[in-house]
Amino acid sequence: MLSNGVVTAAYIVASVLFIISLGGLSNQESARRGNWYGMAGMALAIVVTILSNQVSNYMVLIIMMLIGGAIGMRVASKVGMTQMPELVAILHSFVGLAAVLVGIATYADPSAHFEGVEKSIHNVEIFLGVFIGAITFTGSVIAYGKLCGKVTGKPLTLPGRHFFNLVIVLVCIWLGSVFMHEDNATAALLGMTILAFIFGAHLVLAIGGADMPVVISMLNSYSGWAAAATGFMLGNDLLIVTGALVGSSGAILSYIMCRAMNRNFISVIAGGFGATSSGDSGDAATGETLSTTPEDTAQLLGDAQEVIIVPGYGMAVAHAQHQVSELTRKLKDKGVNVRFGIHPVAGRMPGHMNVLLAEAKVPYDIVLEMDEINDDIPKTDVVMVIGANDIVNPSALENPNSPIAGMPVLEVWNAKTCIVCKRSMATGYAGVENPLFFKENTRMLFGDAKDSLKSVIEAI
Ligand code: TAP
Repeated sequence: MLSNGVVTAAYIVASVLFIISLGGLSNQESARRGNWYGMAGMALAIVVTILSNQVSNYMVLIIMMLIGGAIGMRVASKVGMTQMPELVAILHSFVGLAAVLVGIATYADPSAHFEGVEKSIHNVEIFLGVFIGAITFTGSVIAYGKLCGKVTGKPLTLPGRHFFNLVIVLVCIWLGSVFMHEDNATAALLGMTILAFIFGAHLVLAIGGADMPVVISMLNSYSGWAAAATGFMLGNDLLIVTGALVGSSGAILSYIMCRAMNRNFISVIAGGFGATSSGDSGDAATGETLSTTPEDTAQLLGDAQEVIIVPGYGMAVAHAQHQVSELTRKLKDKGVNVRFGIHPVAGRMPGHMNVLLAEAKVPYDIVLEMDEINDDIPKTDVVMVIGANDIVNPSALENPNSPIAGMPVLEVWNAKTCIVCKRSMATGYAGVENPLFFKENTRMLFGDAKDSLKSVIEAI
């Protein structure tokens, strides 16, 4: 059994490792190292907590850890790269549910005796922890459903939904005051829990497809605050620090996402974004499309001096990153200047494209952010869009009725020629038609991205 001093010292070391880990994750080159620091910090935290004097029933603990660890290992080893966002969403829901269960158990604990101010503080911790945890739980479950297609991506815009949300919040505040002033207020706690479950589900149901990135990072932040609240309830300093780190980094990420998508944070949270009030999304893009062949694409790319590749979710689905990397090498060998343009919400999770390109050993220095490369597109001979759709949709800039109106996009249509590699004319995640496909300088290279790229590489 470790003394409290040793446990506290180990917790400080673990906290420092988590902070170094976060620092590492901010850069692709150090991300792998950052993950190792995070894992080391978590391993230390778990071992020290198990050996602390807070744990008495080792049998239950070991059985639960084995069950949880086995499920986690199985799920993590089976999950595909494209299912990662769903996995993250469902993991957030567990954190929320844990906060709810710990809160209710702490309140019901007959051995817990607090008096005066301490009792009030303890009750606030429980009430807030359960409230945030319940919202995180159902919100994350709905986000999971939306990401894997089990729940429609269309926003649920009930009439008077803001009023409905306001009523729920006001009733929860009233239940909170009952909870603080009565000795046995289990009914108030459970009542608030049910309302918070409904609130969390409704908030996320009201959010449109294209705004899901903000919601995911927001739920990430909530899960951190739920963990911090659990730390307060259990009197565990490390959980408070870790929760605060996750909560604040998730909040910063949500803010960055909102800025990248030109969205107002409060409006996204209040829901209804991604829906058009007039019902006219003006997205009926029509016209003629010009298709091309892998041979013609190879010719065009080989003759170019400046090429920009814009990858999207389809590249991840097709596992085409290695072919993209090979194509880049071949073109560079021919003296073509190849660079990449990455939209902040390309794919289905932050940094999705960067991770895939890094895995395929595409040099970091040619992978540029949207803001860094958009101005260079008019000087570019060929932009090759690989499995991307929403992030290159001109209607975001040209059509104020579009569900993605206002979202900055990669302005690929300004290049001399734009080749779009995808399987069909299908829409992307936001379900919006894309006028890019009908532009005069666009050539559609239909087919699975991996197969098409293999043929292009062969033809070069
Ligand atoms: P999307 O708009 O989803 O478009 C992807 C395109 O890839 C589809 O139109 C699809 O067309 C094509 N595709 C699918 N499988 C393919 C394959 N095997 N080979 C070739 N093409 C394939 O993706 P995007 O442009 O990357 O935009 C991301 C969207 O996801 C945004 O709306 C964003 O808001 C949302 N989102 C992002 C995140 C984060 S954090 N990144 C999280 C949640 C949601 P075909 O079916 O015709 O092939």
